[in-house]
Amino acid sequence: MPHSVKGVIAKSKGEPVSVEIIEIPDPGPGEVLVDVKACGVCHTDLHFREGAINDEFPFLLGHEAAGIVEEVGEGVVNVSPGDFVILNWRAVCGECRSCKRGRPWYCFDTHNATQKMALDGAPLTAALGIGAFAEKTLVAAGQATKVDSRAKPEVAGLIGCGVMAGLGAAINTGEVTRGDSVAVFGCGGVGDAAIAGSNLAGAHTIIAVDIDERKLEMAKEFGATHTIDSSKEDPIEAIRQITDGNGADVVIDAVGIPSTYEQSFFARDLAGTVVLVGVPNPEMKIELPLQEVFGRGGSLKSSWYGDCLPSRDFPMLIDLYLQGRLNLEKFVSETISLEDVEEAFHAMERGEVLRSVVIL
Ligand SMILES: NC(=O)c1ccc[n+]([C@@H]2O[C@H](COP(=O)([O-])OP(=O)(O)OC[C@H]3O[C@@H](n4cnc5c(N)ncnc54)[C@H](O)[C@@H]3O)[C@@H](O)[C@H]2O)c1
Ligand SMILES: [Zn+2]
Ligand SMILES: [Zn+2]
Repeated sequence: MPHSVKGVIAKSKGEPVSVEIIEIPDPGPGEVLVDVKACGVCHTDLHFREGAINDEFPFLLGHEAAGIVEEVGEGVVNVSPGDFVILNWRAVCGECRSCKRGRPWYCFDTHNATQKMALDGAPLTAALGIGAFAEKTLVAAGQATKVDSRAKPEVAGLIGCGVMAGLGAAINTGEVTRGDSVAVFGCGGVGDAAIAGSNLAGAHTIIAVDIDERKLEMAKEFGATHTIDSSKEDPIEAIRQITDGNGADVVIDAVGIPSTYEQSFFARDLAGTVVLVGVPNPEMKIELPLQEVFGRGGSLKSSWYGDCLPSRDFPMLIDLYLQGRLNLEKFVSETISLEDVEEAFHAMERGEVLRSVVIL
């Protein structure tokens, strides 16, 4: 029997989101119906409602979630009803050219549910193939990863996007290791997770850069050893000063705009790595001196979802959290209800929160 539940919908570009009754079909082959328990508000949800990702309105927003499996469709073997799961937006296919080359974290054909959820009979686009600002959601089985149920849903869900993206940008994409110097531009949920990841990996110097003093204070709690307010001083010069005139080994851009990318490019040491994890919009362009791109060596990388493998990384991060080695609770600034998502976007824009988390 199809399910009618509440969900947060972005109907058109820039219009405030609203809570509507949506219809969800029973899970078909390879699909899973999840009873959502918590879902964090990520900046990418706001990018969707601003039309900066694509034009496939109406969107069912929310993609940073944990919940309980309610029903599974035919052929599903990785999870069962009652399992506590974190949802992921890159369920690897195992068949594409990247998976076959042993690099499933770059999978070019990730899976989502085949059936669509609907509003008044019209199909919805689920944000990042999840759509979890809703009492229930329908995903592909591979999008649900079972983790230790002792973790609280409001912290576990954060691993499903921002924490994994930032932490993985540092440890998977940037390959931060013992003794490295790291600079992180943008200290929201994603940037602070990159700081926490660099700290876990043994970085020696961790420089947080933001234009908001409050964010810099929070960054210290995740392990930043230095902070730079780039609205007041030139971050390139300041990073060089902190790193004996050299620049950082790994620079992570968790804002994703041309100015921070350019700053990241020039703030790294020779042979260093720049990791772009912030999501640019389609109009953005950069211009860099090609001779510098060549002469500085090293690598310029992008990080999709922290180059993670959910089945490998989610249970590990939950274990680190349960052991007290990864403080996920510090990311949760407030818990809210589905009706408060629009206001949470404004709180995010005002820089007041790291993560507002919807509890269901
Ligand atoms: N690549 C991925 O897989 C992935 C996953 C999740 C989110 N993201 C993206 O990461 C970015 C950050 O997400 P978030 O949820 O942490 O957002 P957020 O809004 O919570 O944080 C952004 C931070 O950047 C700071 N900032 C803004 N302009 C700046 C500037 N010019 N210089 C320095 N700091 C500046 C803000 O003050 C804020 O602290 C977004 O673009 C989001 O879409 C990417
Ligand atoms: Zn694949
Ligand atoms: Zn996200």
